[in-house]
Amino acid sequence: MMGIKISNMISDVEIHKRVLEIGKSITDKFKNDTSPMVVISVLKGSFIFYSDLIRHIDLDFGCEFLGVASYHSSSKSSGEVKMTLDLATPIEGKNVILVEDIVDTGLTMQYLLNYLKSRHPKSVTTVTLLHKPEAVQVKCPLDHVGFNISNEFVVGYGLDYQGYFRNLPYIGKIENLN
Ligand code: IMP
Ligand code: MG
Repeated sequence: MMGIKISNMISDVEIHKRVLEIGKSITDKFKNDTSPMVVISVLKGSFIFYSDLIRHIDLDFGCEFLGVASYHSSSKSSGEVKMTLDLATPIEGKNVILVEDIVDTGLTMQYLLNYLKSRHPKSVTTVTLLHKPEAVQVKCPLDHVGFNISNEFVVGYGLDYQGYFRNLPYIGKIENLN
């Protein structure tokens, strides 16, 4: 995108290290649990984090996808969550791992948790690559947080600005956002 400056905030090496740690702690938490497991990617933002993370969870599980839209092409949350893609298989009685890219206000996570709980899973474990503690409006239980960051707009490694920059291998900050 023309005229946008992005500075490196979290490098690909740092991200990779955290992904391994989170994968290991999820593996350790569930290795003696015989109930079925499903790991859910919240689209679109978590798809890169998700695809790296699941390769470091050494267990048997199904992969599922949920689509939500909350940021209608701007860098401010509308506070409104819309489901754009539903689960393809039931989660009743399963251990669910919910994988998000970022928890900002917490509204999306709250919406997703309410939705999942209405489908009677055995448990729900929340994972988010990024968390902005200063932006939180509703508190949600976060079991695994990759990085806590300041209240600034970030892109890369799946996160976008107006649909772009998801392909950056690192997490960067937009320097000149009005
Ligand atoms: P929340 O509902 O306010 O917690 O945030 C919901 C969604 O907003 C996230 O899943 C992201 O898709 C998006 N979002 C929030 N902060 C950022 C950011 O800094 N960069 C890119 N997307 C963001
Ligand atoms: Mg998202």
